[in-house]
Amino acid sequence: MKILLLGKNGQVGWELQRSLAPLGEVLALDRQSTDFCGDLSQPERLAQTVLAFQPDVIVNAAAHTAVDKAESEPELARCLNATAPAALAQAAAQIGALLVHYSTDYVFNGQGQSPWQEGSATGPLSVYGQTKLEGEQAIVASGCAHLIFRTSWVYAARGGNFAKTMLRLAADRERLTVIDDQHGAPTGADLIADVTAHAIRATLLQPALGGLYHLVASGQTTWHGYASHVIAQARLTQPGLALKVGEIAAVPTSAFPTPAQRPLNSRLATHKLQEAFGLVLPPWQQGVNRMLAEILG
Ligand SMILES: NC(=O)c1ccc[n+]([C@@H]2O[C@H](COP(=O)([O-])OP(=O)(O)OC[C@H]3O[C@@H](n4cnc5c(N)ncnc54)[C@H](OP(=O)(O)O)[C@@H]3O)[C@@H](O)[C@H]2O)c1
Repeated sequence: MKILLLGKNGQVGWELQRSLAPLGEVLALDRQSTDFCGDLSQPERLAQTVLAFQPDVIVNAAAHTAVDKAESEPELARCLNATAPAALAQAAAQIGALLVHYSTDYVFNGQGQSPWQEGSATGPLSVYGQTKLEGEQAIVASGCAHLIFRTSWVYAARGGNFAKTMLRLAADRERLTVIDDQHGAPTGADLIADVTAHAIRATLLQPALGGLYHLVASGQTTWHGYASHVIAQARLTQPGLALKVGEIAAVPTSAFPTPAQRPLNSRLATHKLQEAFGLVLPPWQQGVNRMLAEILG
C-alpha cells in the first residue's frame, strides 16, 4: 500500500510518520519537499503530486493552524484550509484514493453546554474555523472516499505546548491566571495518529465506514482545569521541581483578548467513532500525564 502524508513535521504529522509506517510505503512531505510538491499554497502542484505518486491513501495533516494570524491573512488561510484540501479531494476521487483529513471544534459557535455531534449545526466564529469548515465541505462535495476527523486542543511532547508554557510560568511566577470558561478535551497527537491508522485499515476493508468523525480524548476540562492538572501532576511526579506558583486564578476569556474569537463550548461527542471502529478513547488525563512524563524525564 502507498500512503502520501502531507504536513509531516506538524504535531499530528510527526506522530503519523510513526503510526502509518507499519501500513505500507509512506511518502512524507512538507512544504520544503523538492522531489514532490507538499506545499498547500500550491494546490495544482499538490494534485500533480497525487497523480504522479498514485497513493492508495492520502493523509493531510498540514493546515493553516495560526488561529489569530488567519484573521489578518484570510486568503492564505482559505488556500491552505479549503482550496488545497479541495484539490487533494478531486485528485483522490480521480484515482480512487482514500483521503484522510483533520478539522476542528472551531467549526462550531461554542454555544450551550452539550457535546457537539457530527451532525450538529456549524457556525464558525473565526476565519480559521470558517476555512476549515469550507475544507470539510469541499472534500464531501468531491465524492472521494474520505475520513474527516474533527479534533481539539491538540498537544504533543515534541515542540512547544500549553503544558510546557504553564510549567515555565509556574517556575517564574507565584500567581497564574488561566481561562476557565472554554470547555474541551486536550488530545494527544499520538492518540490522533494511532486512531487514524486503525481507521484507515478498517475503512479500506469496509468502505462504508468513511465519513466525518469527532476524535478527541474522553472527558472534558477548561484551560484552567488543564493547567491545574499539569502543575499538580508535575509536583507529584517530580517533587524536586522548583515551581514557585501558589495560586492559579480562574479568569474569563475576556481577560485575554485575541484577534480570533474562540468557542466556549468545544465539547465533541465521540460515540460515533468509538462504535464504528470498536475503539476506546482514553481520558484526557492519561495522555497528558504520559506527555508530562516524557518532557520532565
Ligand atoms: N493544534 C490544535 O489544537 C488543533 C485543534 C483542532 C484541529 N486541529 C487540526 O489538526 C490538524 C493537525 O494540526 P497540528 O496541531 O498538527 O498542527 P501544526 O502542528 O501547526 O502543524 C501544521 C503543519 O502544517 C504545515 N504547513 C503550514 N503551511 C503549510 C503549507 N503551505 N504547505 C505545507 N504544509 C504547511 C506546518 O508546517 P510549518 O511548521 O513549516 O509551518 C505544520 O507542519 C490540522 O488540520 C488542524 O487544523 C488542530
